[in-house]
Amino acid sequence: METHVPHVSSEENEDPGAAPYGNFINYYSFNPPENRLGLIPEALLENIGFGSDRSERVLMLDVGCNSGDLSVALYKHLLHEDASPKRELHLLGFDLDRDLILRAQNSNPFPQNIQFIPLDITDAQESRAALEAYLGRLASLSEFLLLEAQPWKCYRSAARRLRKLGRSDFEHFKALEIRGDMAAHAKEHLEKQCGMELVQSFGNTTWDRSLLLFRRREL
Ligand SMILES: C[S@@+](CC[C@H](N)C(=O)[O-])C[C@H]1O[C@@H](n2cnc3c(N)ncnc32)[C@H](O)[C@@H]1O
Repeated sequence: METHVPHVSSEENEDPGAAPYGNFINYYSFNPPENRLGLIPEALLENIGFGSDRSERVLMLDVGCNSGDLSVALYKHLLHEDASPKRELHLLGFDLDRDLILRAQNSNPFPQNIQFIPLDITDAQESRAALEAYLGRLASLSEFLLLEAQPWKCYRSAARRLRKLGRSDFEHFKALEIRGDMAAHAKEHLEKQCGMELVQSFGNTTWDRSLLLFRRREL
């Protein structure tokens, strides 16, 4: 869900420009990885059960990884000092913006374990409930899903920024059906339709976005 335009606390002074897909070229200069990593325990993998079999491989998927700064920082964060050196942790980051992916590839300090590829996760066909389809797709791929839900006010700010630059609204902005408490909508959909359950809420980021960890419900 971290796919569109961020809310910027002091928009007047810190206008990040308009990037309709959230593909800001300087995203990490106004939202450094530390803003969020502080909320995520270093022992997250152990906490969710990847501690006992130390030779097991863990694959993380970073959907919409931008220039990869958060992916690399998260990888390092989870391979903390006490983590088993034997654990194989792999991360695949992808983004629809090829330039950002090139930057991520060129500055990747762990090419053996982190890969960045250009990819658009949405189907070409528009769907009336695209957000739900997107969440369903992610849920079908994941055992655990860490979601940073973007509040509705960010969608409005993004549309306003586009208008200020003399560009029209997002193509489907007025037709968006899911509004209001985005985290609650996402939670409801993941739990009722996608067989997932909320494991933990890590609280809210400095941008007032909740960080929610879901897992596949056992049958
Ligand atoms: C605001 S950035 C967030 C980057 C990173 N996930 C983070 O939280 O730090 C959102 C990224 O999602 C990418 N994105 C948006 N829609 C996408 C899609 N359909 N498939 C892949 N990437 C997408 C954008 O290009 C942008 O780089």
